[in-house]
Amino acid sequence: MPHTITLIPGDGIGPEVSSAVVRIIEATGVDIRWETHYAGAQALEKFGSTLPEELLESIKRNRVALKGPITTPVGKGFTSVNVGLRKALDLYANLRPVRALPGVPARYPELDLVVVRENTEDLYAGIEHVVVPGVVESIKVITEKASTRIARYAFEFARREGRKKVTAVHKANIMKLSDGLFLECFRKVAADYPEIAAEDKIVDNACMQLVMRPEQFDVMLLENLYGDIVSDLCAGLIGGLGLVPGANIGELGAVFEAVHGSAPDIAGQGIANPTALLQSGILMLRHLGERDAAERIEKAMLKVYTDGQVRTRDVGGNSHTDEFAQAVIQGMG
Ligand code: NAI
Repeated sequence: MPHTITLIPGDGIGPEVSSAVVRIIEATGVDIRWETHYAGAQALEKFGSTLPEELLESIKRNRVALKGPITTPVGKGFTSVNVGLRKALDLYANLRPVRALPGVPARYPELDLVVVRENTEDLYAGIEHVVVPGVVESIKVITEKASTRIARYAFEFARREGRKKVTAVHKANIMKLSDGLFLECFRKVAADYPEIAAEDKIVDNACMQLVMRPEQFDVMLLENLYGDIVSDLCAGLIGGLGLVPGANIGELGAVFEAVHGSAPDIAGQGIANPTALLQSGILMLRHLGERDAAERIEKAMLKVYTDGQVRTRDVGGNSHTDEFAQAVIQGMG
């Protein structure tokens, strides 16, 4: 079955890494038609909006997008395109697999876990106001609907990927109502998945356990703010944010992107590492049901890392983006 996918090349190193990833995906022979759209400053010039309606319509129609990083200029009047996309499409699940790559220095080279973060509510929604000068109130909203759908997403993901355990991370001992509701929804959903172990941990303990014995975790389920913090902690366990993929998924569509930004310091030099976006592309192919292609790319990419001959500068080599892409394509045979 042919797929039509919205491609957002992004800016900075975005176009360099996305063209490398498109080349690699096309080399698998999967039948994909790319619909290219622009967002951010590039789109503002052309369409008068950083998040043009055409782009949103394209994602809603195709239901899948691959997205390069987009610069968010510092200053007022320019909100993050990334946050805007999540809101406009109600991309409620943020998925971040955390796994070290062969030969890349990591504290836990064997680690293989997945963080599932609720993407729409909680303190992270930033609902704040000044009550009186010197007193600020920030409102934490947790709903049964959002907690239930993210828990279901985590268990469905675990079932589909053959994962054995989901751990809910919370602070329900103190936030008895809000985190208590999140936990209650988790337990209700868990009952529908008897083959998957369900446990919960208080967030402070979970952080300590992650640093000391991370291998005990498999799929981790968190509210928005804890998820934001803990997912970066997890990336640190395997060598940092640079290589980690991500996906934002909702009923209307799914946007696959690297976790890193547009790297203006190295943009245009052809030396960016496309690995994070490539790993996002692998997630995307699995999401599309193209498991064979996903596995072929993954195997070839891991082989390039194991061989260690072709590496970009950020991971200790001097190869260019294109050379890395070529090595992965050759590795697929
Ligand atoms: P960054 O991730 O762009 O760069 C941090 C450092 O990592 C830089 O030294 C950069 O050269 C390096 N780096 C990042 N990706 C790399 C890659 N693929 N290969 C080799 N080196 C890489 O973070 P920074 O500088 O904080 O943000 C730059 C811009 O990106 C900002 O405007 C920010 O708002 C935006 N951003 C966009 C994101 C997105 O579109 N999802 C996510 C994070 C930041």
